[in-house]
Amino acid sequence: MEDNIICNCMDVSEHEIVFTIKNNEDVNLQDIMDITGAGTGCGSCVGDIEEILERELKK
Ligand code: FES
Repeated sequence: MEDNIICNCMDVSEHEIVFTIKNNEDVNLQDIMDITGAGTGCGSCVGDIEEILERELKK
């Protein structure tokens, strides 16, 4: 379900996060937050972003 909203504060979908990971070499959590804004509100979604990052980097 790549269109899941991961970050409600900033309205960032899983698809956007995956896209960011795929299009930026050696991307880390902070980069994803800077680029998409995800995780920069309440912070409750940061763990979910990390999980997506780890999952995508294993592919
Ligand atoms: S849900 Fe992502 S910062 Fe609040």
